[in-house]
Amino acid sequence: MTYLPADSRYENLTYRRSGRSGLQLPPVSLGLWYNFGGVDVFENGRATIHRAFDLGITHFDLANNYGPPYGSAEETFGRIMAKDLKPYRDELIISSKAGYDMWPGPYGEWGSRKYLVASCDQSLKRMGLEYVDIFYHHRPDPNTPLEETMGALDFIVRSGRALYAGISTYSPEQTRAAAKILRELGTPCLIHQPRYNMFDRWIEDGLLDVLEDEGIGCIGFSPLAQGILTNKYLQDVPDGSRAAKYENQLHWGDKVTQTRLAKVAKLNEIAQARGQSMAQMAIAWTLRLPTMTSALIGASKVRHVEEAVAAMYNLAFSDEELAAIEGILAE
Ligand SMILES: NC(=O)c1ccc[n+]([C@@H]2O[C@H](COP(=O)([O-])OP(=O)(O)OC[C@H]3O[C@@H](n4cnc5c(N)ncnc54)[C@H](OP(=O)(O)O)[C@@H]3O)[C@@H](O)[C@H]2O)c1
Repeated sequence: MTYLPADSRYENLTYRRSGRSGLQLPPVSLGLWYNFGGVDVFENGRATIHRAFDLGITHFDLANNYGPPYGSAEETFGRIMAKDLKPYRDELIISSKAGYDMWPGPYGEWGSRKYLVASCDQSLKRMGLEYVDIFYHHRPDPNTPLEETMGALDFIVRSGRALYAGISTYSPEQTRAAAKILRELGTPCLIHQPRYNMFDRWIEDGLLDVLEDEGIGCIGFSPLAQGILTNKYLQDVPDGSRAAKYENQLHWGDKVTQTRLAKVAKLNEIAQARGQSMAQMAIAWTLRLPTMTSALIGASKVRHVEEAVAAMYNLAFSDEELAAIEGILAE
């Protein structure tokens, strides 16, 4: 079967500029952290990516260790590129990252130049790409000089392995310092990738101001708190859901709890009054911030992508809605 993308693919979304750069991103981007690994059904991932691109999602986010097993999400994406998306490479923004545990020994994690350059080369090989659009340092490294890590990002861009450099989960202070070094090297920081959702609002405490000041874009990951900010857990924990598969021990301390579900039930009423699903309102809410370039979602089904894109038809919040949401979150 030859994949032909929808002719209407640029009619759905309004693209947003990443900080003060020249690059625009879709307001919803798709991440391949879960559901695209070697353990997952290839044709489901492939259909999800086709639908995303058909709807105007041009940005796909990966990292060296996405799977499981590590590396396998990039291999899956590489297969889909080769089969379907190769003719559209210039319409795509593909990112990868290094920073977490990837291979054994002292050169397989954190932030050394040795690790970042080798990992970027491995990622390119797995995806069958000549370059990625964005290469990120995935998390700050307390033991490597920031000059070395930022120097590695600059080298990765200058050597043609990536077009832009990004950082992820850096604090406001670390971001300010990283941005200064990158600017001086002549490879300005394109974007920061922090976690942001109704239950995790740390970026409102300083990071957004730094990004605004420095002209860096922001792509907030896990806008649905890994699925908790949807209506899926309101009755029970469905089979096959992320919480079921991982026995409610999700990364970043996410947990389906009665306290959270009580809030989601109330938030869901506001969403319904807006004519949206809970998931749609949660995504739209992250995009209310002018500094937010894109909401970085995950999807285990084609319809998750469709629902997220349809959320873009109602991004406006009234003051009353925002106040009601604040009230519920503060309870
Ligand atoms: N930089 C970093 O350190 C970092 C860390 C984590 C993630 N990320 C990036 O962020 C991306 C997204 O993270 P995430 O997967 O946690 O995002 P998320 O959007 O908060 O959660 C996605 C999950 O929620 C469920 N879901 C999605 N839409 C739904 C809907 N309409 N109704 C019901 N359930 C729905 C699905 O889970 P089920 O499997 O339960 O169906 C889906 O896999 C990752 O792929 C990765 O690219 C980056």
